[in-house]
Amino acid sequence: MKPLQPTIDPALVPKRTLAHGAQIPAIGLGTFGSDHVSGAQIAAAVLDAARIGYRHFDCAAVYGNEPLIGEALHTVSKTVAPREDLWVTSKLWNDKHAAKDVISSCKQSLRDLKLDYLDLYLVHWPFPNFHAPGCDIDSRSPDARPYIHAEFMETWGEMERLVEQGLVRHIGTSNMTVAKLDLLLKDARVRPVCNEMELHPHFQQPEFLAYLFEGHIQPIGFCPLGSPGRPERDRTPEDTSPLEDPVVCAIAEDHQVHPAAICLKWAVQRGEVVIPFSVNPRNYRANLHAVVDDPLSPEEMRKIDATDRRCRLIKGQVFLWKENQSWRDLWDESGVITPA
Ligand SMILES: NC(=O)c1ccc[n+]([C@@H]2O[C@H](COP(=O)([O-])OP(=O)(O)OC[C@H]3O[C@@H](n4cnc5c(N)ncnc54)[C@H](OP(=O)(O)O)[C@@H]3O)[C@@H](O)[C@H]2O)c1
Repeated sequence: MKPLQPTIDPALVPKRTLAHGAQIPAIGLGTFGSDHVSGAQIAAAVLDAARIGYRHFDCAAVYGNEPLIGEALHTVSKTVAPREDLWVTSKLWNDKHAAKDVISSCKQSLRDLKLDYLDLYLVHWPFPNFHAPGCDIDSRSPDARPYIHAEFMETWGEMERLVEQGLVRHIGTSNMTVAKLDLLLKDARVRPVCNEMELHPHFQQPEFLAYLFEGHIQPIGFCPLGSPGRPERDRTPEDTSPLEDPVVCAIAEDHQVHPAAICLKWAVQRGEVVIPFSVNPRNYRANLHAVVDDPLSPEEMRKIDATDRRCRLIKGQVFLWKENQSWRDLWDESGVITPA
């Protein structure tokens, strides 16, 4: 068996400069256990990943593991790197969109993560529609509803207050569409600095990326490897895997790396921040190396650009609000917000 790759100096990890000048490491460790990896395993990975050079951790209240990750982050800041060298993101869960719940939810994440501020706080989904952990694909919350802009702005107003109170440094969105962001950017006092979204070679969203870059909003790509371990509720027969794409695999062979490394190099070289999940030391080390060593050539980038299959994996069916709807209704594919 090959020895583990060496640790990496965090100064060598690429960074992206956000709209207000802060620098976010271009790779973070994802922490969603997809309903089958324990919080203890993920917390152990957070601590070890920090030791080998990760400084960015993508958390969320709904992942159900923030108290354990908080223990790990506490150890990190005592033994590996001071708090100010870390980038920690958390997210407001869907059942906490009411104005009265936003600040208290953020404070709960801060208590759990043992932090006195977050670098980034995201509204996890633009709908207040809840689903239970481990639910199946047909699950719906009984009071599910569509995107209602006035309601979203009430939530966003509280997100803005979190910045004013110094509890979070930046705020952002996740699982948005251009149509919804257009409305938010028109009405926000504090603009989102990041949008977290599904991005991988089989779901490249080039028009959305161009819109974000134009608006100085940093795209953070989730499922950058096509989420091979995603929950059952997010699997359909037509899904494809970027890790099995022949073009990605051929380039991986040329570079003598796993196809995962090629997906990450491509993503970071096109300007994304990536947050691959792993609890396997060999994999999370390799992922960090992927974005530091041996970049792809322009020709290789072009070849991967041509593999797009517009294949969304995290479709969000559980957030639909009416009978007989398609998951596509969640994503405003016609360019306007799907009517209620
Ligand atoms: N904002 C949102 O709504 C949202 C939605 C989904 C995800 N996210 C965030 O994005 C993160 C990443 O997404 P994800 O976990 O769904 O998918 P992902 O990062 O694309 O895939 C993770 C899977 O790939 C495997 N893997 C990781 N590195 C590998 C390597 N070098 N070689 C081979 N296999 C490798 C992992 O297994 P091992 O553990 O065995 O390495 C794990 O099963 C989440 O953890 C979460 O933080 C956010």
